[in-house]
Amino acid sequence: MLNKLSLKVALIFFVFIMIVEVLLFSVLYTNLVSNQVDEVLEGLLARGSSHRDVLEKSFDDITLNHVSLMETEAATDVIITGKNGEVLSKSTEATNEIIQLIEHENTISHDGKVIEDRWRTAPYIATVSPIVIEGELVGHVYMFSPSDAVQSVVNELTRQFVIIGLLTVLLTIITIFILTRFLTLPLIHMKQVTERMSTGETDISLEATSRKDELGELASAIQTLARELEHLKRDRNDFLANIAHELRTPLTYIKGYADIAGRSSLSLEERGHYLDILKEESEQLTLLVKNLFALAKMDQNQFSIVPERVKLCESLEKVVKRLHPVFEEKKVKLDLNCPMHVIALVDPERFQQVMLNLLDNALKHSPAGATIGILSEMYQGKAVVEVSDEGSGIPEEELPFIFDRLYRVDKSRSRASGGSGLGLAIVKEIIRLHDGKITVNSSLGQGTTFRMELPGGEK
Ligand SMILES: Nc1ncnc2c1ncn2[C@@H]1O[C@H](COP(=O)(O)OP(=O)(O)OP(=O)(O)O)[C@@H](O)[C@H]1O
Ligand SMILES: [Mg+2]
Repeated sequence: MLNKLSLKVALIFFVFIMIVEVLLFSVLYTNLVSNQVDEVLEGLLARGSSHRDVLEKSFDDITLNHVSLMETEAATDVIITGKNGEVLSKSTEATNEIIQLIEHENTISHDGKVIEDRWRTAPYIATVSPIVIEGELVGHVYMFSPSDAVQSVVNELTRQFVIIGLLTVLLTIITIFILTRFLTLPLIHMKQVTERMSTGETDISLEATSRKDELGELASAIQTLARELEHLKRDRNDFLANIAHELRTPLTYIKGYADIAGRSSLSLEERGHYLDILKEESEQLTLLVKNLFALAKMDQNQFSIVPERVKLCESLEKVVKRLHPVFEEKKVKLDLNCPMHVIALVDPERFQQVMLNLLDNALKHSPAGATIGILSEMYQGKAVVEVSDEGSGIPEEELPFIFDRLYRVDKSRSRASGGSGLGLAIVKEIIRLHDGKITVNSSLGQGTTFRMELPGGEK
């Protein structure tokens, strides 16, 4: 798995570094070898030329013999030829290979030249320097040196190169090993941790979080993820517990009223009354389940929102008309204030749902004779809608929670107040899906104002 990653990284490193090293080494090696060989060849030529210089001063038997004598003692050898290529003097027996090299040539420049440089294959390397006295070519000085000497120099060089090369490979491998461990060990650790997380464990710690590099950032991200998961898990458990509670209460009512309604001693009228309550309760229960289902769909982004340009005034008038009877009954006044030009980019159905929820809340918490105001206006390109009531208000410490699911300020679930605590959660989700914003302002005993900002639909 991840070991594969370290292997891959190591292999890429290794191949890359090896290519660079081989390239560098071979360039260095060939240069060094050819320098060494050149040096030897130049030395040989210089020696031949200095013999030639002596011979040009005095070209006689004594000097010829003297030159040869000098070379018998040295590792190099000399052969001096005359005008027609005849051997005048030599420091060694002229073997076949040597004789082959002595070719009579009259066009060699006075500086001389190398006539054999194939030190790898030929037994000798050789140079020639022409002897010129008073403008006339009188002979040649041939110098020979056995190739073994050059070969052993080169061999020594090769040996050193091999040793250094092996050392470099070893060092490279060690470095790569350490480097990949340094990179992949934390990765392996993180992988193990995420695997543990996927089995539900969220209490994890990663050492790599202290690192200041990308691996450290990744480790921190994983740690944060684990914490969030932990929160989610707790939230989900709380939520499930709440749902169970919410369902149990109405079910208890239903069972109780059903028992009563079943009594044979009841009058028809009484039985009708209890059956009405039963119907109401089961309707409530249906609504609760429906709302829960809607919220679940919103969580999974399966809740479709089709925004269009909506004249808010028309939409608001529709809501007001729809709620008129209920408000009338409770003797609460509805005051709608909206200029015609306010246009929002919203899903009309969802917007109605939001307004119904907010107005339902406002009405529930308003005393008879109070007024509920709806105000709508354009503000910085956004469509703003405010719903304010003169009701009981919400305690400040409760404000942060009222948008939570199943949260109610009044914890007792009386049949009168009746809510399930899902209305505002749904409102908030719908607004979020519209990329809008909802805020609340409330003072206890004075009233509450909900303010929404929705995307405006430009003309
Ligand atoms: N206008 C308001 N005035 C006073 N309190 C409010 C107002 N609106 C909401 N609240 C408080 O916020 C809580 C949460 O509101 P929410 O609409 O989410 O739930 P609900 O009205 O109790 O139930 P549901 O809307 O699901 O029937 C309410 O229980 C209530 O205590
Ligand atoms: Mg409500």
